[in-house]
Amino acid sequence: MASNVRHRRNSTVLNPRSYLTEDLWEQAPILTGTTHFDPRDDARNILVTGGAGFIACWFVRHLTLTYPDHYNIVSFDKLDYCATLNNTRVLDGRANFTFEQGDITSPSDVRRVLRKHQIDTVFHFAAQSHVDLSFGNSYQFTNTNVYGTHVLLERAREHGISRFIHISTDEVYGDVPIGAADLSETSILAPTNPYSASKAAAEMMVSAYRASFKLPLITVRANNVYGPHQFPEKIIPKFIMLLQRRRKLLVHGDGSPTRRYLYAGDIVDALDTIFHKGHVGQIYNIATTDEISNTDICHKLLDLFKLPHATQADLEKSVQYTEDRPFNDQRYATDGTKLAALGWQPKTGFDDGLRRTVEWYRRFGEVWWGDISRVLTSFPVVEGTEIWTKEEHEARASDDEVLLGDDSATGGTTWTKKASEHLQEADEGFHKQ
Ligand SMILES: NC(=O)c1ccc[n+]([C@@H]2O[C@H](COP(=O)([O-])OP(=O)(O)OC[C@H]3O[C@@H](n4cnc5c(N)ncnc54)[C@H](O)[C@@H]3O)[C@@H](O)[C@H]2O)c1
Repeated sequence: MASNVRHRRNSTVLNPRSYLTEDLWEQAPILTGTTHFDPRDDARNILVTGGAGFIACWFVRHLTLTYPDHYNIVSFDKLDYCATLNNTRVLDGRANFTFEQGDITSPSDVRRVLRKHQIDTVFHFAAQSHVDLSFGNSYQFTNTNVYGTHVLLERAREHGISRFIHISTDEVYGDVPIGAADLSETSILAPTNPYSASKAAAEMMVSAYRASFKLPLITVRANNVYGPHQFPEKIIPKFIMLLQRRRKLLVHGDGSPTRRYLYAGDIVDALDTIFHKGHVGQIYNIATTDEISNTDICHKLLDLFKLPHATQADLEKSVQYTEDRPFNDQRYATDGTKLAALGWQPKTGFDDGLRRTVEWYRRFGEVWWGDISRVLTSFPVVEGTEIWTKEEHEARASDDEVLLGDDSATGGTTWTKKASEHLQEADEGFHKQ
Protein backbone atom coordinates (compact mmCIF):
# COMPACT_ATOMS: atom_id res chain seq x y z
CA MET A 1 0.00 0.00 0.00
CA ALA A 2 1.20 3.52 -0.80
CA SER A 3 2.17 5.52 2.28
CA ASN A 4 -0.54 8.10 2.81
CA VAL A 5 0.70 9.65 5.98
CA ARG A 6 3.73 11.62 7.18
CA HIS A 7 4.62 11.69 10.87
CA ARG A 8 5.96 14.83 12.43
CA ARG A 9 6.87 15.19 16.05
CA ASN A 10 3.64 14.53 17.99
CA SER A 11 1.27 14.90 15.08
CA THR A 12 -0.04 13.13 11.98
CA VAL A 13 -0.19 14.75 8.57
CA LEU A 14 -2.72 13.05 6.31
CA ASN A 15 -2.25 13.02 2.56
CA PRO A 16 -5.63 13.05 0.75
CA ARG A 17 -3.88 12.44 -2.59
CA SER A 18 -2.43 9.02 -1.81
CA TYR A 19 -4.09 5.97 -3.32
CA LEU A 20 -4.84 2.48 -2.11
CA THR A 21 -3.01 -0.32 -3.90
CA GLU A 22 -4.78 -1.96 -6.85
CA ASP A 23 -5.45 -5.28 -5.11
CA LEU A 24 -7.18 -3.54 -2.23
CA TRP A 25 -8.86 -1.01 -4.46
CA GLU A 26 -10.52 -3.61 -6.63
CA GLN A 27 -12.22 -5.14 -3.61
CA ALA A 28 -13.99 -1.88 -2.69
CA PRO A 29 -17.73 -1.86 -3.51
CA ILE A 30 -18.97 0.95 -5.76
CA LEU A 31 -21.56 2.71 -3.63
CA THR A 32 -24.18 5.03 -5.16
CA GLY A 33 -27.86 5.87 -4.75
CA THR A 34 -30.66 4.04 -6.58
CA THR A 35 -32.76 6.71 -8.35
CA HIS A 36 -32.74 7.41 -12.09
CA PHE A 37 -34.74 10.27 -13.62
CA ASP A 38 -35.15 11.68 -17.11
CA PRO A 39 -32.18 14.04 -17.39
CA ARG A 40 -32.77 17.78 -17.33
CA ASP A 41 -32.49 19.68 -20.61
CA ASP A 42 -30.95 22.70 -18.90
CA ALA A 43 -28.16 20.75 -17.17
CA ARG A 44 -25.03 19.34 -18.75
CA ASN A 45 -21.94 20.36 -16.76
CA ILE A 46 -22.31 19.97 -13.01
CA LEU A 47 -19.88 21.32 -10.42
CA VAL A 48 -19.90 19.46 -7.09
CA THR A 49 -17.95 21.26 -4.35
CA GLY A 50 -16.41 19.08 -1.65
CA GLY A 51 -16.54 16.09 -4.01
CA ALA A 52 -13.69 14.24 -2.28
CA GLY A 53 -15.52 14.36 1.06
CA PHE A 54 -18.18 12.05 2.46
CA ILE A 55 -21.68 12.91 1.17
CA ALA A 56 -20.54 14.61 -2.02
CA CYS A 57 -18.42 11.61 -3.07
CA TRP A 58 -21.53 9.43 -2.94
CA PHE A 59 -23.40 11.98 -5.03
CA VAL A 60 -20.54 12.37 -7.54
CA ARG A 61 -20.34 8.60 -8.02
CA HIS A 62 -24.11 8.42 -8.41
CA LEU A 63 -24.40 11.19 -11.03
CA THR A 64 -21.33 10.07 -12.99
CA LEU A 65 -22.35 6.41 -13.18
CA THR A 66 -26.14 6.84 -13.47
CA TYR A 67 -26.14 9.53 -16.16
CA PRO A 68 -22.96 8.81 -18.22
CA ASP A 69 -24.37 10.19 -21.47
CA HIS A 70 -26.04 13.26 -20.03
CA TYR A 71 -24.08 14.90 -17.24
CA ASN A 72 -20.40 15.82 -16.98
CA ILE A 73 -19.38 15.93 -13.35
CA VAL A 74 -16.59 18.15 -12.01
CA SER A 75 -15.55 17.40 -8.43
CA PHE A 76 -14.01 20.54 -6.94
CA ASP A 77 -12.22 20.08 -3.63
CA LYS A 78 -9.42 21.67 -1.66
CA LEU A 79 -8.43 18.22 -0.30
CA ASP A 80 -8.68 19.07 3.35
CA TYR A 81 -7.73 16.65 6.16
CA CYS A 82 -11.00 14.65 5.89
CA ALA A 83 -10.95 14.26 2.10
CA THR A 84 -9.42 11.45 0.06
CA LEU A 85 -9.21 10.83 -3.65
CA ASN A 86 -9.87 7.16 -2.85
CA ASN A 87 -13.52 8.29 -2.54
CA THR A 88 -13.82 8.93 -6.29
CA ARG A 89 -10.97 6.79 -7.59
CA VAL A 90 -13.42 4.42 -9.27
CA LEU A 91 -14.37 7.31 -11.58
CA ASP A 92 -10.86 8.13 -12.78
CA GLY A 93 -10.79 7.51 -16.51
CA ARG A 94 -14.54 8.00 -16.96
CA ALA A 95 -15.17 10.44 -19.82
CA ASN A 96 -17.80 12.37 -17.83
CA PHE A 97 -15.75 12.82 -14.63
CA THR A 98 -13.03 15.37 -13.78
CA PHE A 99 -11.38 16.25 -10.49
CA GLU A 100 -10.20 19.83 -9.96
CA GLN A 101 -8.30 20.81 -6.85
CA GLY A 102 -9.35 24.26 -5.70
CA ASP A 103 -10.61 26.34 -2.80
CA ILE A 104 -14.12 27.80 -2.60
CA THR A 105 -12.73 30.77 -0.68
CA SER A 106 -10.59 31.70 -3.71
CA PRO A 107 -12.61 33.78 -6.22
CA SER A 108 -10.02 33.05 -8.93
CA ASP A 109 -10.13 29.26 -8.36
CA VAL A 110 -13.92 29.32 -8.56
CA ARG A 111 -14.03 31.52 -11.68
CA ARG A 112 -11.44 29.31 -13.39
CA VAL A 113 -13.40 26.10 -12.81
CA LEU A 114 -16.77 27.61 -13.78
CA ARG A 115 -15.36 28.92 -17.07
CA LYS A 116 -13.11 25.98 -17.93
CA HIS A 117 -15.95 23.46 -17.67
CA GLN A 118 -18.81 25.76 -18.77
CA ILE A 119 -20.67 24.88 -15.61
CA ASP A 120 -24.47 25.28 -15.65
CA THR A 121 -25.34 23.57 -12.33
CA VAL A 122 -23.72 23.78 -8.89
CA PHE A 123 -24.16 21.39 -5.95
CA HIS A 124 -22.46 23.04 -3.00
CA PHE A 125 -21.34 20.60 -0.29
CA ALA A 126 -17.83 21.87 0.61
CA ALA A 127 -17.67 22.93 4.23
CA GLN A 128 -15.98 22.59 7.54
CA SER A 129 -18.46 20.00 8.80
CA HIS A 130 -17.36 18.77 12.23
CA VAL A 131 -19.17 20.46 15.12
CA ASP A 132 -16.53 19.43 17.70
CA LEU A 133 -13.80 21.28 15.78
CA SER A 134 -15.93 24.40 15.45
CA PHE A 135 -15.60 25.14 19.17
CA GLY A 136 -11.81 25.49 18.82
CA ASN A 137 -11.33 26.65 15.24
CA SER A 138 -14.38 28.78 14.60
CA TYR A 139 -12.78 31.35 12.26
CA GLN A 140 -12.08 28.51 9.83
CA PHE A 141 -15.78 27.61 9.92
CA THR A 142 -16.89 31.17 9.17
CA ASN A 143 -14.28 31.51 6.44
CA THR A 144 -15.14 28.28 4.62
CA ASN A 145 -18.85 27.99 5.26
CA VAL A 146 -19.92 31.63 5.04
CA TYR A 147 -17.28 33.40 2.95
CA GLY A 148 -16.73 30.33 0.74
CA THR A 149 -20.47 30.14 0.03
CA HIS A 150 -20.49 33.87 -0.71
CA VAL A 151 -17.65 33.48 -3.23
CA LEU A 152 -19.49 30.64 -4.98
CA LEU A 153 -22.73 32.62 -5.14
CA GLU A 154 -21.02 35.72 -6.47
CA ARG A 155 -19.04 33.83 -9.09
CA ALA A 156 -22.16 31.83 -10.07
CA ARG A 157 -24.05 35.11 -10.51
CA GLU A 158 -21.34 36.57 -12.76
CA HIS A 159 -20.98 33.33 -14.74
CA GLY A 160 -24.71 32.59 -15.09
CA ILE A 161 -26.11 29.20 -14.10
CA SER A 162 -29.40 27.36 -14.40
CA ARG A 163 -29.45 25.81 -10.91
CA PHE A 164 -27.52 26.10 -7.61
CA ILE A 165 -28.32 23.57 -4.89
CA HIS A 166 -26.98 24.52 -1.48
CA ILE A 167 -26.50 21.75 1.10
CA SER A 168 -27.35 22.78 4.64
CA THR A 169 -28.19 20.97 7.85
CA ASP A 170 -31.03 20.41 10.31
CA GLU A 171 -28.71 21.92 12.93
CA VAL A 172 -29.58 25.43 11.69
CA TYR A 173 -32.94 25.10 13.54
CA GLY A 174 -31.19 24.53 16.88
CA ASP A 175 -32.38 22.33 19.71
CA VAL A 176 -35.89 20.84 19.48
CA PRO A 177 -37.26 19.95 22.96
CA ILE A 178 -38.47 16.40 23.58
CA GLY A 179 -42.15 16.18 22.70
CA ALA A 180 -42.13 19.30 20.47
CA ALA A 181 -43.51 18.99 16.93
CA ASP A 182 -41.10 18.30 14.07
CA LEU A 183 -39.93 21.52 12.42
CA SER A 184 -40.95 22.47 8.90
CA GLU A 185 -38.95 24.50 6.39
CA THR A 186 -40.61 27.75 7.56
CA SER A 187 -39.51 27.37 11.20
CA ILE A 188 -37.09 29.99 12.49
CA LEU A 189 -33.36 29.32 12.50
CA ALA A 190 -31.81 29.30 15.97
CA PRO A 191 -28.33 27.76 15.72
CA THR A 192 -26.39 27.15 18.94
CA ASN A 193 -22.81 26.27 17.97
CA PRO A 194 -20.25 27.91 15.65
CA TYR A 195 -20.75 25.20 12.99
CA SER A 196 -24.53 25.52 12.82
CA ALA A 197 -24.29 29.31 13.08
CA SER A 198 -21.94 29.37 10.08
CA LYS A 199 -24.33 27.13 8.11
CA ALA A 200 -27.28 29.37 9.02
CA ALA A 201 -25.26 32.45 8.03
CA ALA A 202 -24.44 30.80 4.69
CA GLU A 203 -28.17 30.24 4.17
CA MET A 204 -28.75 33.97 4.70
CA MET A 205 -26.34 34.70 1.82
CA VAL A 206 -28.17 32.13 -0.31
CA SER A 207 -31.48 33.77 0.50
CA ALA A 208 -30.07 37.23 -0.32
CA TYR A 209 -28.76 36.08 -3.71
CA ARG A 210 -32.12 34.53 -4.46
CA ALA A 211 -33.94 37.80 -3.68
CA SER A 212 -31.42 40.34 -5.00
CA PHE A 213 -30.12 38.62 -8.12
CA LYS A 214 -32.81 36.00 -8.85
CA LEU A 215 -30.15 33.30 -8.73
CA PRO A 216 -31.96 29.95 -9.23
CA LEU A 217 -31.27 28.53 -5.79
CA ILE A 218 -32.56 25.55 -3.83
CA THR A 219 -31.54 24.88 -0.22
CA VAL A 220 -31.67 21.47 1.46
CA ARG A 221 -31.41 20.81 5.20
CA ALA A 222 -30.43 17.23 5.98
CA ASN A 223 -30.44 15.14 9.14
CA ASN A 224 -27.21 13.45 10.32
CA VAL A 225 -25.84 11.36 7.48
CA TYR A 226 -23.85 8.14 8.03
CA GLY A 227 -22.45 5.29 5.95
CA PRO A 228 -19.24 4.09 4.27
CA HIS A 229 -16.72 6.79 3.19
CA GLN A 230 -17.37 9.08 6.19
CA PHE A 231 -14.14 10.35 7.79
CA PRO A 232 -13.87 8.61 11.19
CA GLU A 233 -14.05 11.83 13.22
CA LYS A 234 -17.86 11.53 13.29
CA ILE A 235 -19.50 9.36 15.92
CA ILE A 236 -20.52 6.25 13.96
CA PRO A 237 -17.30 5.54 12.02
CA LYS A 238 -15.22 6.65 15.00
CA PHE A 239 -16.95 4.18 17.29
CA ILE A 240 -16.68 1.38 14.73
CA MET A 241 -12.95 1.95 14.39
CA LEU A 242 -12.48 2.13 18.18
CA LEU A 243 -14.25 -1.21 18.59
CA GLN A 244 -12.20 -2.69 15.79
CA ARG A 245 -9.06 -1.60 17.66
CA ARG A 246 -10.55 -3.12 20.85
CA ARG A 247 -10.61 0.30 22.46
CA LYS A 248 -13.31 1.87 24.60
CA LEU A 249 -16.00 4.03 23.03
CA LEU A 250 -15.49 7.68 24.03
CA VAL A 251 -18.94 9.11 24.74
CA HIS A 252 -19.26 12.85 25.31
CA GLY A 253 -21.29 13.82 28.40
CA ASP A 254 -24.00 11.37 29.45
CA GLY A 255 -24.73 9.98 25.96
CA SER A 256 -28.39 11.03 26.03
CA PRO A 257 -28.54 13.52 23.07
CA THR A 258 -30.34 12.06 20.06
CA ARG A 259 -29.98 12.68 16.34
CA ARG A 260 -32.02 11.53 13.36
CA TYR A 261 -29.93 9.42 11.00
CA LEU A 262 -30.05 9.24 7.22
CA TYR A 263 -28.12 6.60 5.26
CA ALA A 264 -25.74 8.06 2.63
CA GLY A 265 -27.46 6.22 -0.24
CA ASP A 266 -30.77 7.76 0.82
CA ILE A 267 -29.52 11.36 0.85
CA VAL A 268 -28.14 10.78 -2.64
CA ASP A 269 -31.59 9.69 -3.83
CA ALA A 270 -33.13 12.71 -2.09
CA LEU A 271 -30.71 15.11 -3.82
CA ASP A 272 -31.25 13.43 -7.18
CA THR A 273 -35.02 13.80 -6.65
CA ILE A 274 -34.70 17.48 -5.70
CA PHE A 275 -32.45 18.13 -8.71
CA HIS A 276 -34.90 16.59 -11.17
CA LYS A 277 -38.25 17.40 -9.56
CA GLY A 278 -37.65 20.16 -7.01
CA HIS A 279 -38.60 23.79 -7.50
CA VAL A 280 -36.23 26.74 -7.66
CA GLY A 281 -36.56 29.11 -4.71
CA GLN A 282 -37.63 26.33 -2.33
CA ILE A 283 -36.10 24.85 0.82
CA TYR A 284 -36.42 21.10 1.45
CA ASN A 285 -35.81 19.19 4.67
CA ILE A 286 -34.31 15.74 4.07
CA ALA A 287 -35.63 13.91 7.08
CA THR A 288 -35.98 10.44 8.55
CA THR A 289 -37.64 9.28 11.75
CA ASP A 290 -34.71 7.10 12.90
CA GLU A 291 -33.94 9.02 16.09
CA ILE A 292 -31.07 7.43 18.01
CA SER A 293 -29.19 8.53 21.14
CA ASN A 294 -25.40 8.26 21.43
CA THR A 295 -25.88 5.57 24.07
CA ASP A 296 -28.20 3.64 21.70
CA ILE A 297 -25.44 3.76 19.08
CA CYS A 298 -23.08 2.16 21.62
CA HIS A 299 -25.57 -0.64 22.31
CA LYS A 300 -26.21 -1.34 18.64
CA LEU A 301 -22.52 -1.37 17.75
CA LEU A 302 -21.56 -3.55 20.73
CA ASP A 303 -24.24 -5.93 19.56
CA LEU A 304 -22.82 -6.04 16.02
CA PHE A 305 -19.32 -6.63 17.45
CA LYS A 306 -20.79 -9.37 19.69
CA LEU A 307 -19.63 -7.64 22.87
CA PRO A 308 -21.77 -7.79 26.07
CA HIS A 309 -23.75 -4.63 26.85
CA ALA A 310 -26.87 -5.73 28.76
CA THR A 311 -25.81 -4.55 32.23
CA GLN A 312 -24.14 -1.34 33.41
CA ALA A 313 -21.07 -3.38 34.34
CA ASP A 314 -20.90 -4.82 30.82
CA LEU A 315 -21.29 -1.37 29.31
CA GLU A 316 -18.52 0.09 31.45
CA LYS A 317 -16.10 -2.45 30.04
CA SER A 318 -16.57 -0.96 26.56
CA VAL A 319 -17.66 2.63 27.11
CA GLN A 320 -15.85 5.59 28.66
CA TYR A 321 -17.75 8.80 29.34
CA THR A 322 -15.67 11.95 28.66
CA GLU A 323 -16.22 15.69 29.06
CA ASP A 324 -19.05 17.04 26.90
CA ARG A 325 -18.92 19.60 24.11
CA PRO A 326 -19.09 23.18 25.47
CA PHE A 327 -22.73 23.04 24.40
CA ASN A 328 -24.65 20.12 22.95
CA ASP A 329 -28.17 20.32 21.53
CA GLN A 330 -30.35 17.55 22.99
CA ARG A 331 -32.07 16.74 19.73
CA TYR A 332 -32.99 17.92 16.23
CA ALA A 333 -36.29 16.99 14.62
CA THR A 334 -37.40 18.00 11.16
CA ASP A 335 -40.50 17.24 9.10
CA GLY A 336 -39.99 15.74 5.63
CA THR A 337 -43.52 16.09 4.21
CA LYS A 338 -42.52 18.60 1.53
CA LEU A 339 -39.88 16.30 0.03
CA ALA A 340 -42.15 13.25 0.37
CA ALA A 341 -44.54 15.08 -1.99
CA LEU A 342 -41.79 14.90 -4.67
CA GLY A 343 -41.77 11.11 -4.25
CA TRP A 344 -38.74 10.51 -1.99
CA GLN A 345 -38.74 8.21 1.03
CA PRO A 346 -35.72 6.80 2.87
CA LYS A 347 -35.16 3.13 1.93
CA THR A 348 -32.52 2.08 4.44
CA GLY A 349 -33.53 1.64 8.09
CA PHE A 350 -30.92 2.44 10.73
CA ASP A 351 -30.11 -1.14 11.75
CA ASP A 352 -29.60 -2.22 8.14
CA GLY A 353 -27.52 0.86 7.30
CA LEU A 354 -25.41 0.42 10.42
CA ARG A 355 -24.68 -3.22 9.59
CA ARG A 356 -23.56 -2.26 6.05
CA THR A 357 -21.44 0.55 7.46
CA VAL A 358 -19.72 -1.75 9.97
CA GLU A 359 -18.93 -4.24 7.19
CA TRP A 360 -17.28 -1.53 5.08
CA TYR A 361 -15.19 -0.09 7.93
CA ARG A 362 -14.04 -3.55 8.99
CA ARG A 363 -12.49 -3.99 5.53
CA PHE A 364 -11.37 -0.48 4.62
CA GLY A 365 -11.50 1.80 7.69
CA GLU A 366 -7.85 1.30 8.63
CA VAL A 367 -6.46 2.00 5.18
CA TRP A 368 -8.77 4.47 3.43
CA TRP A 369 -7.41 7.72 4.92
CA GLY A 370 -4.00 6.72 6.34
CA ASP A 371 -3.13 6.68 10.04
CA ILE A 372 -6.32 7.64 11.90
CA SER A 373 -4.97 6.94 15.42
CA ARG A 374 -5.09 10.59 16.49
CA VAL A 375 -8.50 11.09 14.83
CA LEU A 376 -9.90 8.43 17.17
CA THR A 377 -8.97 10.31 20.37
CA SER A 378 -11.35 12.53 22.33
CA PHE A 379 -11.46 16.09 20.89
CA PRO A 380 -8.43 15.94 18.53
CA VAL A 381 -7.17 19.24 17.09
CA VAL A 382 -6.81 19.80 13.34
CA GLU A 383 -4.88 22.47 11.44
CA GLY A 384 -4.84 22.03 7.68
CA THR A 385 -4.12 18.32 7.18
CA GLU A 386 -2.21 17.99 10.47
CA ILE A 387 -3.80 16.36 13.53
CA TRP A 388 -2.86 16.31 17.21
CA THR A 389 -4.45 14.79 20.27
CA LYS A 390 -5.94 17.45 22.55
CA GLU A 391 -3.14 16.87 25.09
CA GLU A 392 -0.36 17.13 22.49
CA HIS A 393 -1.84 20.34 21.15
CA GLU A 394 -2.18 21.87 24.63
CA ALA A 395 1.46 21.06 25.38
CA ARG A 396 2.47 22.63 22.08
CA ALA A 397 0.38 25.75 22.74
CA SER A 398 1.84 26.27 26.22
CA ASP A 399 5.38 26.27 24.71
CA ASP A 400 4.26 29.24 22.64
CA GLU A 401 2.81 31.34 25.44
CA VAL A 402 4.26 34.16 27.50
CA LEU A 403 2.64 35.70 30.54
CA LEU A 404 2.75 39.47 30.60
CA GLY A 405 3.05 41.20 33.98
CA ASP A 406 0.15 42.66 35.97
CA ASP A 407 1.21 46.21 35.07
CA SER A 408 0.81 45.46 31.33
CA ALA A 409 -2.26 46.37 29.32
CA THR A 410 -3.43 42.78 29.60
CA GLY A 411 -3.86 42.80 33.36
CA GLY A 412 -1.88 39.58 33.58
CA THR A 413 -3.77 37.67 30.86
CA THR A 414 -1.91 34.91 29.01
CA TRP A 415 -1.14 35.93 25.42
CA THR A 416 0.55 34.06 22.61
CA LYS A 417 3.83 35.53 21.41
CA LYS A 418 2.18 36.74 18.23
CA ALA A 419 -0.64 38.47 20.12
CA SER A 420 1.91 40.13 22.44
CA GLU A 421 3.85 41.41 19.45
CA HIS A 422 0.68 42.88 17.95
CA LEU A 423 -0.21 44.46 21.28
CA GLN A 424 3.27 45.98 21.59
CA GLU A 425 3.12 47.38 18.03
CA ALA A 426 -0.29 48.90 18.74
CA ASP A 427 1.01 50.39 21.99
CA GLU A 428 4.07 51.93 20.27
CA GLY A 429 1.82 53.34 17.53
CA PHE A 430 -0.44 54.92 20.15
CA HIS A 431 2.49 56.63 21.95
CA LYS A 432 3.83 58.02 18.65
CA GLN A 433 0.54 59.84 17.94
N1 LIG B 1 -22.36 14.73 7.56
C1 LIG B 1 -23.56 15.07 7.97
O1 LIG B 1 -24.14 14.40 8.82
C2 LIG B 1 -24.27 16.27 7.37
C3 LIG B 1 -25.63 16.47 7.68
C4 LIG B 1 -26.28 17.55 7.11
C5 LIG B 1 -25.61 18.42 6.27
N2 LIG B 1 -24.28 18.20 6.01
C6 LIG B 1 -23.61 19.14 5.09
O2 LIG B 1 -23.25 18.39 3.94
C7 LIG B 1 -22.03 18.90 3.41
C8 LIG B 1 -21.02 17.77 3.29
O3 LIG B 1 -20.79 17.22 4.58
P1 LIG B 1 -19.79 15.98 4.79
O4 LIG B 1 -20.10 15.39 6.11
O5 LIG B 1 -19.82 15.15 3.60
O6 LIG B 1 -18.42 16.76 4.89
P2 LIG B 1 -16.91 16.28 4.84
O7 LIG B 1 -16.25 17.01 5.95
O8 LIG B 1 -16.78 14.80 4.75
O9 LIG B 1 -16.41 16.85 3.44
C9 LIG B 1 -16.22 18.22 3.21
C10 LIG B 1 -15.40 18.34 1.94
O10 LIG B 1 -15.26 19.74 1.64
C11 LIG B 1 -13.92 19.96 1.26
N3 LIG B 1 -13.59 21.35 1.57
C12 LIG B 1 -13.48 21.93 2.80
N4 LIG B 1 -13.13 23.22 2.66
C13 LIG B 1 -13.04 23.47 1.33
C14 LIG B 1 -12.73 24.62 0.57
N5 LIG B 1 -12.42 25.78 1.17
N6 LIG B 1 -12.72 24.53 -0.77
C15 LIG B 1 -13.03 23.35 -1.39
N7 LIG B 1 -13.32 22.22 -0.71
C16 LIG B 1 -13.32 22.28 0.63
C17 LIG B 1 -13.10 18.99 2.08
O11 LIG B 1 -11.82 18.76 1.51
C18 LIG B 1 -13.99 17.76 2.06
O12 LIG B 1 -13.69 16.95 0.96
C19 LIG B 1 -21.60 20.03 4.33
O13 LIG B 1 -22.02 21.25 3.77
C20 LIG B 1 -22.34 19.75 5.63
O14 LIG B 1 -22.59 20.94 6.35
C21 LIG B 1 -23.60 17.15 6.54
